[in-house]
Amino acid sequence: MTDFKKIISHAKEYGFVFPSSEIYDGLSAVYDYAQNGVALKKNIRDYWWKSMVQLHHNIVGIDASIFMHPTTWKASGHVDAFNDPMIDNKDSKKRYRADVLVEDYCAKIENKIDKEIAKAAKRFGDDFNQEEFTKTNPRVVGYQEKINQTLKRLGQSLEKEDLADVKNLIEELEIACPESGSRNWTEVKQFNLMFGTKLGASVDSAMDLYLRPETAQGIFVNFLNVQKTGRMKIPFGIAQTGKAFRNEIVARQFIFRMREFEQMEMQFFIPPGTQKEWYEQWKETRLKWHLSLGMGEENYRFHDHEKLAHYADAAADIEFKFPFGYKELEGIHSRTDFDLSSHEEFSGKKLQYFDHERNENYVPYVVETSVGLDRMFLAVFSWALREETLEDGSSRTVLKLPAILAPTKIAILPLVKKDGLPEVGKKLMEDLKWDYEVSYDEKDAVGRRYRRQDALGTPYCITIDHQTIEDQTVTIRDRNTMKQERMLIKELGGFLHEKLNFKNWLKKIQ
Ligand code: GAP
Repeated sequence: MTDFKKIISHAKEYGFVFPSSEIYDGLSAVYDYAQNGVALKKNIRDYWWKSMVQLHHNIVGIDASIFMHPTTWKASGHVDAFNDPMIDNKDSKKRYRADVLVEDYCAKIENKIDKEIAKAAKRFGDDFNQEEFTKTNPRVVGYQEKINQTLKRLGQSLEKEDLADVKNLIEELEIACPESGSRNWTEVKQFNLMFGTKLGASVDSAMDLYLRPETAQGIFVNFLNVQKTGRMKIPFGIAQTGKAFRNEIVARQFIFRMREFEQMEMQFFIPPGTQKEWYEQWKETRLKWHLSLGMGEENYRFHDHEKLAHYADAAADIEFKFPFGYKELEGIHSRTDFDLSSHEEFSGKKLQYFDHERNENYVPYVVETSVGLDRMFLAVFSWALREETLEDGSSRTVLKLPAILAPTKIAILPLVKKDGLPEVGKKLMEDLKWDYEVSYDEKDAVGRRYRRQDALGTPYCITIDHQTIEDQTVTIRDRNTMKQERMLIKELGGFLHEKLNFKNWLKKIQ
């Protein structure tokens, strides 16, 4: 995988992601999506939306407001419990998330495991059996045990709210401040992550509001509205994509952890007692969705939570192998009836469902799937970016985005800017633009134009040359293999449809 700094600079250089308000030196952990980034992000969002809403007859979408009545956040538990444990280093005056310091410590041990595996793979060549090696090599087993024990203790201490033990753990592991190198730590304290703001003009009557820290609550408060107006029968789901805001203490790693970000969430309403079954089903469905993009099964794993959020009776992350190690990409949570019951209590309004089959009224249970759109963007972008050495010894930078997500699907390149070739190219662009995002480029030598499209992740380049004028054929170049095929213009539609239609990608998850 490409070096992380290279990923960030490529994202900027090729118009994917810019630091926010950069002319004022940016704003920490806030980013803007540029012309190509916004298209990639939209394609990821659409891919999620279609898989959820279009492919499930019993899932519908909504778009709730970012501002919500402040009691929402009291009822949801966010006012009291949406905290991160933080610790300050007295020398550098830097603030850290205590759990992240411990997790980073474990990630370093994991790197050591990776190095042992790489060394052994080199030594044993084709005979190497990674699974057996990781189970039997004493050093690797020791490292793995250390990771397991450490994360278990962290989880248990956080679960019990035993912040003193979290500090003890940091001290026992001899974790030093990355900035000052010292181990001079304060106590661990809780810090609420919600951003506050005010609604109303006058100072006296202004109402305190929060920017929503998750989109899910907009779904819960609309549960009955949707159920009634959509005549939905349980089990059914409500899907939503939108912005969420968190005052993250550790805001780093580019768009991995942002203060303003976008979530794609789905709440699935089910009868009480069926949550275990649905939880397992949604874990599987969501993993398949990720795998349908073809980014390698080996890059995903489940991580079951030791410490459960205040609303959950089971929770797991789908982790992805980012350039800085396996990290959470998506959460699947069995949220019980916590949210709906709590909103009933705080609002005094019933949020119940009459189940004709069971002949009873109940507050539905909920299984939630929640994936960060920006985090998904980073997963796709970092996986796709490659430096390749070619057969002739030269190198190319290529963004091997899953074709269905690529911001531009087709680039049309007339070989020269004369002899009627641009006219044919422009006509082709006019024809294809109804179905695909198409770009047109006639500047520079064609080799340079191919490189430019490789770096932007465009899966297909269509070149118009003099033969085109004679026999109505073009060459179509595949970004990944760099192979070129000659094809009649009239055959292009069928070829592109085969490669770029949602069904062929999404049906892998059926
Ligand atoms: N409604 C449940 C919920 O919000 P979460 O695990 O806190 O659960 C869900 O967040 C997903 O949102 C995460 O798996 C991650 O992809 C994304 N996410 C959370 N905080 C984020 C942040 N600060 N920056 C970017 N993405 C974030």
